[in-house]
Amino acid sequence: MTTTDLPASLIPTLPGQHYTDRNVFGLEQSRIFEQMWFCAVRAADLPTPGKFEKVQIGRESVLVVRGRDGGLRAFLNICRHRGAQICTEDSGEVKRAFQCPYHAWTYDLSGKLIAAPNLTSMPDVDRVQYGLVPVHLREWLGYAWVCLADEPPSFEEDVMGAVVERLGDLESIDRYDLDTLEVGRRITYDVKANWKLIVENFMECYHCATIHPELTEVLPEFADGYAAQYYVGHGAEFGDDVKGFTVDGSEGFDKLPGVADDQDRRYYALTVKPSVFINLVPDHVIFHRMFPLAEDRTVVVCDWLYTKEVVESGKDVSRSVELFHRVNEQDFEACERTQPAMSSRAYARGGVLVPSEHHISAFHEWVSARISG
Ligand code: FES
Ligand code: FE
Repeated sequence: MTTTDLPASLIPTLPGQHYTDRNVFGLEQSRIFEQMWFCAVRAADLPTPGKFEKVQIGRESVLVVRGRDGGLRAFLNICRHRGAQICTEDSGEVKRAFQCPYHAWTYDLSGKLIAAPNLTSMPDVDRVQYGLVPVHLREWLGYAWVCLADEPPSFEEDVMGAVVERLGDLESIDRYDLDTLEVGRRITYDVKANWKLIVENFMECYHCATIHPELTEVLPEFADGYAAQYYVGHGAEFGDDVKGFTVDGSEGFDKLPGVADDQDRRYYALTVKPSVFINLVPDHVIFHRMFPLAEDRTVVVCDWLYTKEVVESGKDVSRSVELFHRVNEQDFEACERTQPAMSSRAYARGGVLVPSEHHISAFHEWVSARISG
């Protein structure tokens, strides 16, 4: 469909096939997820040497591990001998090294090949050259971000830049001090929908009045359907009688120590392409990491982050968790309701975006440019 078929105020979406076609998803894996910085793990989940997590990024399985020197490193989860996956469990701990379960090649926590049966009779095997393949890693906001590209794009431009574009500066997010916050609750959602439906849903608020009764109670301006998140620096204001960002608007916790007065009683939502959504409220932060696993399946891990004091004191976080958990369930149900229609002939040429959703077309153009380039 071309835009000339439509009134000027309407813009076509991507055709349905972009959400169902394995080849399109393959291009997204190789040209988006395997090229960009991808938020992999919460650094504090790997507190001591030998702790590791396995994550799927594009077509690759990646191990993130805490080294003996205290630093985090990432490697492809592939044995250099004959290619067996080193780890099959999602997370765990090794004492000093990873040992491949196939022929027992052994790699230390910096990825170096340190032992293999009969290796003394194979002096030509270079232990560094045949070490685990390293993957670029940066830590920011308390998370390890990895990049599979040989030459990663600028972290400052792509990741930090996305935050600056939304909030105006980095100081605005630094005030929430995400590095020091702790996970009060984590919920993993296995969503039967294409990752782009989830991004598009997060980017618009046209649906808020229809599916988010609790959220629009707390943030009345969302009932108007404007995507408040796309005005630089704009935070949606809490309703007058709302005490906190909780499921019933009741009192939350003390404001995070660094949060400025002009950020108090406000909600900021931001997207860091391709796979992160962050929500900032005065007393906690809600951090989503997406893992697109197939053209019709995306795992979303959502962390609710609070001060150490709130988490350690065992204070009841359930009312604040419940608000966004409901929002997540409402959003993901909408995405799952939409996914089957993507393969219908009714959607073969796509749908339309109304004016308040126009910024989604910029996302469509971005995805299309990346996969065609
Ligand atoms: Fe790993 Fe042989 S495949 S030791
Ligand atoms: Fe929503």
